[in-house]
Amino acid sequence: KKTVEDEEVYGKRVLVRADFNVPMDRNGTIEDDTRIRACLPTITYLIDHRARIILCSHLGRPQGRVDGHLRLEPVARRLSELLQRPVKPLREAIGPEVERAVSGMENGEIILLENLRFYPGDEENDPGFARELASLADLFVNDAFGASHRAHASVVGLAAYLPCVAGLLMEKEIERLGSLLENPRRPFAAIMGGAKVEEKIGILENIISKVDLILIGGGMSATFLKGQGWDAGISPVEPDKMEIVRAIMQKAGALGVRILLPQDVIVTEKLKTGAIARGVSAQQIPADSIIADIGPQTITEFTKELKNCRTVVWNGPMGVFEIPQFSEGTKSIATALADLHAMTIVGGGSTAEAVTKLGLSGKMTHVSTGGGATLLFLSGKILPGIAVLADKE
Ligand code: 3PG
Repeated sequence: KKTVEDEEVYGKRVLVRADFNVPMDRNGTIEDDTRIRACLPTITYLIDHRARIILCSHLGRPQGRVDGHLRLEPVARRLSELLQRPVKPLREAIGPEVERAVSGMENGEIILLENLRFYPGDEENDPGFARELASLADLFVNDAFGASHRAHASVVGLAAYLPCVAGLLMEKEIERLGSLLENPRRPFAAIMGGAKVEEKIGILENIISKVDLILIGGGMSATFLKGQGWDAGISPVEPDKMEIVRAIMQKAGALGVRILLPQDVIVTEKLKTGAIARGVSAQQIPADSIIADIGPQTITEFTKELKNCRTVVWNGPMGVFEIPQFSEGTKSIATALADLHAMTIVGGGSTAEAVTKLGLSGKMTHVSTGGGATLLFLSGKILPGIAVLADKE
């Protein structure tokens, strides 16, 4: 694929699609800036080569409406600290104000457009929205590996109107994941947890033929336990996914892939700091409780299984690790991976956050900025955001 280094960027308006979808609290405090730091090589390259840099990203899922808690201004502030130079946040992503700001830019200057998902046209891949965004720039650099599985206007649509090349992070992710997963050493395990259960079930269906073992924890486990006929209390489940869950279990059986669900879990009545945590068997979850973490027996079992593995991909925390009494599962899995003599690939916003907070990122073979994107890439899918990148002649 062509990268930003293959293009003449001096004095050009370069639109960089980044994945600044970082964990942020209601006050705009960024809890983990891994994804922002990961984009610095591309931005620095463009500064050094005197481009006019127009950054854009999505944040959260505001569903096409303006949400004051999901503005990108805190990201601009953080970027500015990291780069030691001004990064100007705009209150919009398209329109006359933005056009004015862009036309007044000097070489080497940086602006950050407002959250793309405030506009329904982004997720709808609306050609009108893509065209307007494209009109701001001369070149489109896609550095948003983490969003490359989304066929959205700012990932895919732009390529119809602008030359489209990979950023340096995008290039690094494709190269590293591609080479790590070309011929994985076996046994090969995938650990899946976290939220976004609905889409991850789809991803699991894809991944199943690539791996030998799947360990399920976190938000995923409730739907799987329910699909096996057990009660998940008040844990959120995907009721219309039960059939798929059963189909996945069947397919796994036929392929000889083992899927391990938690044997025991930590439950609570309320997911908040100070809540009472109780360990119970996964087959006896009380009706008024929610699954908050995997239990000690499961930690022991999962850790033992992982010891035999030679390649492990992990996406999604094992519990609500932000709350100390529900963080044990995630901590233990992170520590187990850090101690393995295996290829370890960790992906996803909150999984990367957990590993970074524990100071273990340096012990993993690769910490990917992608969550769903990384898993889909690994399952052999051609991601739409990668498919539209220009090829090298
Ligand atoms: C991610 O966090 O995996 C990416 O930023 C994509 O976000 P999305 O799942 O809301 O599209």
